[in-house]
Amino acid sequence: MATFRPLLSSHSATSILNINGRNFVVSGHVAEVSFRNDGSRKWTNIRGFAKQLLQCSSYSTDTPAEFTRGHFQKYIPRRAVMYVPASDLRKIAKIPTLGVDCVVFDCEDGVAVNKKEEARNHIRKYLDNYSKNSSARPEITVRVNSVQSGLCQQDLETILPARHLPSSIHVPKVDGVDHLKWFTETATKILGKGRNIHQKINLIIFVESAMSLLSLPHICQTAWDLSTKSHFVPDAVVFGSDDYCADIGATRTNEAKELLYARQYIVSVAKAFKLQAIDIVYIDYKDTEGLRKQAIEGAQMGFTGKQIIHPTQVPICQEAFTPSLEKIEWARELIQGFEKHQKSGKGAFTFRGQMIDMPLVLQARNIVQLAEIVEKATATTS
Ligand code: COA
Ligand code: MG
Repeated sequence: MATFRPLLSSHSATSILNINGRNFVVSGHVAEVSFRNDGSRKWTNIRGFAKQLLQCSSYSTDTPAEFTRGHFQKYIPRRAVMYVPASDLRKIAKIPTLGVDCVVFDCEDGVAVNKKEEARNHIRKYLDNYSKNSSARPEITVRVNSVQSGLCQQDLETILPARHLPSSIHVPKVDGVDHLKWFTETATKILGKGRNIHQKINLIIFVESAMSLLSLPHICQTAWDLSTKSHFVPDAVVFGSDDYCADIGATRTNEAKELLYARQYIVSVAKAFKLQAIDIVYIDYKDTEGLRKQAIEGAQMGFTGKQIIHPTQVPICQEAFTPSLEKIEWARELIQGFEKHQKSGKGAFTFRGQMIDMPLVLQARNIVQLAEIVEKATATTS
């Protein structure tokens, strides 16, 4: 139906633009939306939209009644993304107590080869019994086995016919666009069997090899292109750093200096394609101070969240990816100062001893937006 890609801002997304009462399905990053205090959306930065619309040979229109999740994609905070090995019922039973943003039922490397079948069946049972009325937090997601493992099809065939679908599927070890094409075609075919699916599922793409890193822009572009004709819309890029280290022959350290280039590159590409960027796992899970340091570092680098493996990592990680009260106050006052100076015709100005111009105002807006979204998501669902 849609001729174009959905568009996203860094903290919220939609692919429909209403002009004079008509809703246009639009493509590319031609516009951004931001949240007002009451949660409604405000369009900004729509320059280029009209030009693009004119250049298009055709465009789709929609009515509000036809809005689906695929056309209005909400930002889901994933400050901590926690693996729960799906073969382990004791760990699955812990899910309601974790207080984590995102749970990943793992079928892949957290599950022994001879337990794959059991893992799939546990996920299916969980999703069949999952109540839509139950809290939206944590977000329930699934990591399937990689396409090249030969196990992915069976994962999808067991899990996707479930009564309730996971909101996101993590696809590990995406080394190139062929893996992505195979995944979206296979999964879309299975989803379409005997049911009408109106919702889109978020696609979470894993970078875990040198080839994957090199191909990342092409992979992200292809994921957006495929989203118009499949049930999957890209939402995040995850850095699988242990497999990456094995691939490039690096020695993994807690300081993660060996990963600096890849981490910065992944953040840049993910943000260029308006996707979330999820940072590396801190495997030494008893070292809480080390985790805190690395999580804060990841947040400062631009990552939106971090993978975790143990319940003790949840609060540390989520705190690191939530703007502090002081930072929010700084951002709000800076924006007020900016608006005041704009009215008086002044560009750069001084705020708390620092020179402020547009890039800092944009950073301050990011902080306020993120804080509001996290607050809203946690207040209404916890
Ligand atoms: N999800 C849910 N609950 C978990 C959990 C997880 N990932 N990790 C630990 N727990 C639970 C344990 O079951 C235990 O609860 P219980 O005493 O009621 O059984 C409690 O938290 C404390 O766990 P602890 O005894 O400290 O750890 P453990 O020896 O049970 O497990 C790991 C340690 C590392 C094996 C485990 O945390 C784990 O499997 N993590 C995920 C690994 C993974 O998926 N890796 C692949 C992706 S990188
Ligand atoms: Mg991995």
